[in-house]
Amino acid sequence: MGYDLDDFSADCRSTLTQNPGPPGRESVRLHLERLLANEDFIAKHCGENVEPGLKVLYEDPELGFQILAHVNEKARISPPHDHGASWAIYGQATKYTDMIEWEREDDREDPKRARLKPVKKYRLTAGKAGIFQNGAIHSIDYPDHARFVRVTGTNLDKIDRMRIDLKTGAIQKMYAQHAT
Ligand SMILES: [Fe+2]
Repeated sequence: MGYDLDDFSADCRSTLTQNPGPPGRESVRLHLERLLANEDFIAKHCGENVEPGLKVLYEDPELGFQILAHVNEKARISPPHDHGASWAIYGQATKYTDMIEWEREDDREDPKRARLKPVKKYRLTAGKAGIFQNGAIHSIDYPDHARFVRVTGTNLDKIDRMRIDLKTGAIQKMYAQHAT
């Protein structure tokens, strides 16, 4: 059977209970890579026979973190966005995702505009997991059939987030339930 979803959710729970900060998240990232090495888990939740869509695999009743499977069919490039006050850990199940982390260059005085510069670029390959800390602005770019497992500090549908148009710098607020 190997290291499965139940093992992983239990490890997330105990780790984040003891340490909800960046060291605890790093430990969750390593546990997630262990889960991604389980071929049975990948086949069952992210395999070619799995119905495409976004699936909530686990939501913690107390801590509120979620484990989600993003079973993608089509390639997608996301605009730069944040997850509000929540962190996120992306674990690549199949294919790859190109990640960019952005920093704001403006003084944040204008609530409608931002100026961004890329500060970190990397490719997440199958079996690897990467962290975006709370408030980190990031964008993702993946090919057809790239599937990933994501752990978020909280249910993103319940918090306000923002997305930024790279060409114009326009900030678009995403309110609860308008998640992408
Ligand atoms: Fe994101």
